[in-house]
Amino acid sequence: MDEILIRSGEKVVSRVFVDAGIEALESCIDAFPHVYAVMDANVAMNCPVAMQVAQIMNRRNVPGKLVEASEQTKTMDTVMEICTWLLDNGADRDALVLAIGGGITSDMVGFASSIYKRGVRFAYVPTTLLAQVDAAVGGKTGVNLDKYKNILGVIRQPEFTYICPQVLESLPHRDFISGAAEMLKTFIIRDQGYYQRAVAVLSEMKKGYAGLPEESADEYWSDCIAAYSQELTDLIAAAVRVKAGVVTRDQHERGERRKLNLGHTFAHAIETIAQRSDYVHSVDGVQACIAHGEAVAMGLVLAARLSDRVFHGDMDTPTALEAKVSADLSDCGLCPDCPFPVDEMAEIMSKDKKAEGGRVHFVLIREIGDVVLYDLTVEEVCRLLA
Ligand code: GLY
Repeated sequence: MDEILIRSGEKVVSRVFVDAGIEALESCIDAFPHVYAVMDANVAMNCPVAMQVAQIMNRRNVPGKLVEASEQTKTMDTVMEICTWLLDNGADRDALVLAIGGGITSDMVGFASSIYKRGVRFAYVPTTLLAQVDAAVGGKTGVNLDKYKNILGVIRQPEFTYICPQVLESLPHRDFISGAAEMLKTFIIRDQGYYQRAVAVLSEMKKGYAGLPEESADEYWSDCIAAYSQELTDLIAAAVRVKAGVVTRDQHERGERRKLNLGHTFAHAIETIAQRSDYVHSVDGVQACIAHGEAVAMGLVLAARLSDRVFHGDMDTPTALEAKVSADLSDCGLCPDCPFPVDEMAEIMSKDKKAEGGRVHFVLIREIGDVVLYDLTVEEVCRLLA
């Protein structure tokens, strides 16, 4: 088991355990006298590792609550529901609230715990790749308000994040590659070596999956995750180390942490337009709205194109970096092409959380493993990407 620390100055503020067997979770929560567990209802039904967690909690008489975790339920209503449940169950200032689920669950539970009785401790068992490498590490918590994503929230660190790679064996292929996009984003920010390694592993995994008949695809995918478990664990640990380092240096996103938003200004605009227009994205024969990681993949390609045009004045299409990132993502099973014109995304990008005084903090790629913060107006971006 790997232990990765997030610090604030000299103080350790959060611990991430990677490659942790689920049985050892019990010794991890031993230090906390009063534990309350909140689990994504869908995960509770479909993830065998989560069922094991539920058994551990039952054995220890830990009160448990199921929540519906979707972008529609990621609201203050659900946060209030969690807080009311904590109150009804007598949760005090010494409580530890354990969230078991993907990024939506951890964001909501982290936020509820941060405001309940002015803040109680919380911890995560992330059950998606996206949550393992991103959402459940670094302390961003929050919920949506109307059509604005994550507009209410705080940065507050979980006591620990417990990453058990076996949970991925029951994760559908589409959710897995959505998380892979955040992992690749992390390595584009800082680690060319791991980026190439991740692309090689994910492409190999995808080769066997592509073209399988529907009835055998899920089983193949689950076996594939198990077969690549060691490689995936190493990649997850590497991505967490990168993120933990960034968060340690800039917990409150005054500077370097903004780099973790690579591709995200575009991604949020893509997700918003998709939602407004009921756009249906088809992957693996499944029709669904665009998942966050899928939008991030498209955003990475747009960021690569913008970078080439800013740094090299290269107005050809596609540019060198764009062509590489796009081909790599596609080899990994992600769809790199944004279905919406940049002009349509402009209005949403100008309202981005990262916009200040008419300029948006974009993250540009100098080369894989090296990114810089770069302020541009949305008009400049539209002109450069035209
Ligand atoms: N997901 C980006 C961050 O945690 O800063």
